[in-house]
Amino acid sequence: MGDSFYPLLGNSGYDVLHYDIDLDVEPSANTIDAVTTLTAVAAADLAAFNLDFHGLNVSRVAVNGTETGFSRDGQELTIELVEPISSGAQFTVAVSYSGTPQPIDDPGVPYKALGWHSDQGVIYTASEPSGSMTWYPSNNHPTDKANFTFRITVPDGVTAAATGLLTDEISANGRTTTTWQMNDPMATYLAAVYIGDFERHEQRLDNGLLIRDYVPRGSDASVLDSLAVAPEAIRFFEEILGPYPFDAYGTIVMPFPLGFALENQTLSIHGPDTVYPYVIAHEVIHQWMGDSVTVDDWSHIWLHEGFAHYLGLMFIADFTGQELEALMAGEHLELTAAETSPPGAIQAHELFDFNTVYRRGALTLHALHTLVGDDLFFSIVRTHYDQSAGGNTNTDLFLEIVDDLAGTGAVSLVESWLYDPEMPGIVSGPTL
Ligand code: TRP
Ligand code: ZN
Repeated sequence: MGDSFYPLLGNSGYDVLHYDIDLDVEPSANTIDAVTTLTAVAAADLAAFNLDFHGLNVSRVAVNGTETGFSRDGQELTIELVEPISSGAQFTVAVSYSGTPQPIDDPGVPYKALGWHSDQGVIYTASEPSGSMTWYPSNNHPTDKANFTFRITVPDGVTAAATGLLTDEISANGRTTTTWQMNDPMATYLAAVYIGDFERHEQRLDNGLLIRDYVPRGSDASVLDSLAVAPEAIRFFEEILGPYPFDAYGTIVMPFPLGFALENQTLSIHGPDTVYPYVIAHEVIHQWMGDSVTVDDWSHIWLHEGFAHYLGLMFIADFTGQELEALMAGEHLELTAAETSPPGAIQAHELFDFNTVYRRGALTLHALHTLVGDDLFFSIVRTHYDQSAGGNTNTDLFLEIVDDLAGTGAVSLVESWLYDPEMPGIVSGPTL
């Protein structure tokens, strides 16, 4: 796909419409027996094509139901076609595989191996940006979004959950299969499965949105109480961005500290150490900014994390009765002291650098907000979201909107925050 940080991720030549991920999991051994079937449309005449897939043992590949040859080289799974596929034709490719999925190192996330994890009796996935290829073959780049079906089979009594709506549950021979549908476009890195001893808690918000949370069985009430912030955050962000983008939202809390949270689409993962209002709101806002509207190149990640940090702080200011202005002045002071580098000019290892990407990204938006005032700022944000909902965006597209709605002075200001090596001074406008 030509990503500037991840040249090997993704493949051209086809567009995936749907993933069917069928996982038979033995949690105690951490082994899987799986078939993932992609439905795709050829974007060119194909004699062969590649999927991204790392590790595990592939036993069989079938295209349109017919077994076909394949070869593997690192993370590339090359499928050799018996008969070429013509441009525009729809086809299926089913990959059968098994083994113990191994998480991988990613230079963008130096603090955590990515993909499939088995820890203390729980299996979970945390894949952003590259890790989904440790547990299913895909076109592993956010520009190729697709719908998903997950079918997860585990021993009776074990809870399985996945991103999407639970649509079916069947038990036979001591094993239970649950089916999950993701009916909206989803980037491969946002797909997730979770397996362990969890309780499901469901509620409907006034607007009909389904909230389903998963907490370790026997958790005390305080854990569920802390999750009550999520619906409040959803209502707050709906005022700014419009209706919540997906069929459901929820939080799954691990039974052990994680040190992070991650915005998997419709079902964010947290640890008990990260279920507090700021992080909950941060993962909620990512459902709009990151999940529904996703960057088309990983180097533009400030559009996910800067928005999530800024709108998250806006929620916290409202929630706690603090002044946003004061919170942002504090951010500015600390970042200036740290000589924080610009979020629009990062290197691959800085992808999730908290100061550079999250905090200076948020201050970039705050500078714009201060310059143009509430009405114009929120219409810029809303236009940016609406224009790419369910799809992809990038910094230039954002700057075009700033230019159209607020003019070149506003563009110059945003550019100085995004690209100048020096930290700009805080903008103090009379308008905010
Ligand atoms: N997007 C996450 C957040 O800010 C951070 C993150 C990126 C992450 N990649 C990850 C967390 C991988 C865990 C694992 O909310
Ligand atoms: Zn984030």
